Amino acid sequence: MTLLDSDTGPAPLTFSVTRNLAAATTAEREEILANPGFGQKFTDHMVDICWSVNGGWHRPRVQPYGPISLDPAAAVLHYGQEIFEGIKAYRHEDGSIHTFRPDQNGRRLQRSARRLALPELPVEYFLQSLRELIAVDGAWVPSGADQSLYLRPFMFAKEAFLGVRPAQKVAYYLIASPAGAYFSGGVKPVSIWLSEDYARAGKGGTGAAKTGGNYAASLLPQSEAYENGCDQVVFLDQDRNVEELGGMNVVFVYKDGTIVTPESPSILEGITRDSILQLARDRGHKVEGRAVSLTEWREGVASGDIVEVFACGTAAVVTPIGVLKGADFLDEQPTGELALSLREELTDIQYGRREDTHGWLTRLDA
Ligand code: PLP
Ligand code: COI
Repeated sequence: MTLLDSDTGPAPLTFSVTRNLAAATTAEREEILANPGFGQKFTDHMVDICWSVNGGWHRPRVQPYGPISLDPAAAVLHYGQEIFEGIKAYRHEDGSIHTFRPDQNGRRLQRSARRLALPELPVEYFLQSLRELIAVDGAWVPSGADQSLYLRPFMFAKEAFLGVRPAQKVAYYLIASPAGAYFSGGVKPVSIWLSEDYARAGKGGTGAAKTGGNYAASLLPQSEAYENGCDQVVFLDQDRNVEELGGMNVVFVYKDGTIVTPESPSILEGITRDSILQLARDRGHKVEGRAVSLTEWREGVASGDIVEVFACGTAAVVTPIGVLKGADFLDEQPTGELALSLREELTDIQYGRREDTHGWLTRLDA
């Protein structure tokens, strides 16, 4: 049963649908799907739903993908009141289209909304928006190996008002982008730069919310990572505990098989991480969510106690970490089989090649 079938939620919305008369031709779409990259090309349509203090959620629409008209005083442009999600649609062998744990993304969007003083979109509407977009743009879900349609729901303050208070007019949108591998090299170990000068989040801040400002704050340290020849940046908290990467969670594997991931109120609660940890528990691994200091990481690798380190997230799935580099050190990271075998198990479920024993898949095209 999906949440849409629930009889406790709000009544379904009725979307108006305006078809894109300039939609890509089949040949144009197929050329894009042959080599989609990540986040560069977009489908023919988008969904939007308005919200206002007085009207609640209203005017649900499916319309041609295209520029949004915004008042220059819209609060999001000044105070960054914005949140988003990342979730994928997968094409199965029989052609059907499924997504993975969308209730979790819907709930996380609500938690992010609470922290950013935005209205909470009912999870039923969130799910309905995914279905509405797939109903018109289902042909954009690619069928190649490791390909998917990356769905990007987002919400922002559109009220034209320069006073600093929660906006009274908000827009929710959903756009979609066919995706191949997030890292252009495919599944090869990534190098990580340790950010010492910059933090991503602080106690009581917005670290656990998926809000644009967190990513804006990560861009300068991410540039520092590139300057130092690294793919990604890892952040520490004020006590020098490991938090996460700019766009992925971190997981450590110990030699006794225990799997440890940093847990703190300022880390984004990753759905990929939660799923991977469940698969590891199913295999009999002990799993711990707790603080992991930089010292524990570096000493654990040096002593051989830590046997694998990997990053995980919707866009990047599971990616082994090959190197941790700081201003005055470079630690090669051990690599093993577990990260890749958990990646395979997870993607087998997502692509319908393995039984979905946890009931994680939701069909979107029926
Ligand atoms: N941490 C950050 C900062 C992220 O942007 C993401 C990606 O969404 C994750 C972790 C992983 O979350 P998920 O697995 O839900 O995609
Ligand atoms: C995701 O994995 O969905 C993310 O949001 C990470 C990044 C693309 C921002």
